[in-house]
Amino acid sequence: MTSPAVVWPEPAGRASRGLLELLDEDMSRRRRISIAPGRVNLLGGHTDYNDGFVLPVAVDRYVSCAFAEGVEHTEHTERTGPKGKALEFVSLDFGDRFMLDITDIDRYRESADAFERLTGGPKNRWRRYVAGVVIEMEAAGSSIPTGLGVIAGDVPLGSGLSSSAALEAAVYLALNNGGATPEAALLCQRAENRWVGVPCGVMDQFTSFMAEAGKALFLDCRDLTWRNIPLPAGTAVTVIDSGVQRELADGEYLKRRQEIETSLTILRKVTGPLESLRDLSPEVFEEVEDILPEPLRSRVQHVVDANARVREGVTRLVLEESEGFGELMVDCHLSLAHLYEVSTSELDLIVERSLTVDGVFGARLTGAGFGGCCVVFHREGCEGPLRERVEKGLESEFGRRPTVHHLHSADGAGVYPIEDQI
Ligand code: GLA
Repeated sequence: MTSPAVVWPEPAGRASRGLLELLDEDMSRRRRISIAPGRVNLLGGHTDYNDGFVLPVAVDRYVSCAFAEGVEHTEHTERTGPKGKALEFVSLDFGDRFMLDITDIDRYRESADAFERLTGGPKNRWRRYVAGVVIEMEAAGSSIPTGLGVIAGDVPLGSGLSSSAALEAAVYLALNNGGATPEAALLCQRAENRWVGVPCGVMDQFTSFMAEAGKALFLDCRDLTWRNIPLPAGTAVTVIDSGVQRELADGEYLKRRQEIETSLTILRKVTGPLESLRDLSPEVFEEVEDILPEPLRSRVQHVVDANARVREGVTRLVLEESEGFGELMVDCHLSLAHLYEVSTSELDLIVERSLTVDGVFGARLTGAGFGGCCVVFHREGCEGPLRERVEKGLESEFGRRPTVHHLHSADGAGVYPIEDQI
């Protein structure tokens, strides 16, 4: 009996062909491939690290890791010594490769120098994500296989579509057949926090693992309970990349997190115990907001409103009220732009122009902001006018053309035997 054929997305085909080339004629190894999607967030923004709510959708852009277990190259043995256990990764997109010695993972964890030598400094950022996941898996008690992993992706980089979470999820699943779980999402978040130094919340990793095609993922980032909510029939999502790289993203993201911590310290003087902004209701905030100087008051206002908006958005989706849902997306964008101050003129213009197109329900920036992409939620069929209107607008105002991606919602990450390919 043969297993049902799986049609793989482009990066999966590329990664598996890359692996076969490196393995020469040797087809006898245990081989598998992981496929992990990127995401856009429809509602919620900077709410995940405040123990709040988010409502993202996984999209059909992926990172894949084709993995052959137990491969021993002579070259490996030369580098690890006869007792070493080699685990090598190749990135087709970055034209780079590196090798870990599994017997040395404790050393990478304990010595910053050893980790820097392994990952080759900040320039080879992809290595840090991969090595971070391996180190955290080992710390969590997973047995790490020896082998060779070949990675390829088509999630645009640095655009707010979570290429990093997709990379982490792909590496995790390629090494561990345990499957997609909320614990896996937390592990990958830890890898990014500790080994890449980005203090992200859990939204991106959770979505990459747990999303379902045709649905938005309503996640409570405090207790990690979630529900997948069907998107109304006949609706679609278009992602428009402003082409502005998120240069400031890391520093400004950290600054927002610090502003929230300072706000909490001040608020606690009048509210008493407050674990996170999740515990601050809109009513209580209204009573105490004057205690916060600007911009802290605005930052907190954004988070409090954004949480309420996610809950209302879930009701709108359940009632299939696409227009009401779209209005909430626009409110979210305005709040991110004016209260949280993470938008750019290009993103604002994309939202503004998108909303002039018949059939568009709502638009907002996606991800952390500071550049990157907007997500537009619309009726199926208005893709042409939408593209034209936004391209023209951006070109005449800023002299640059945005990249428009018509995407589909996608299932969360999975891992498959390579033999299933067609
Ligand atoms: C980035 C982070 C997420 C989240 C968003 C903002 O994508 O990785 O954890 O905080 O920004 O909503």
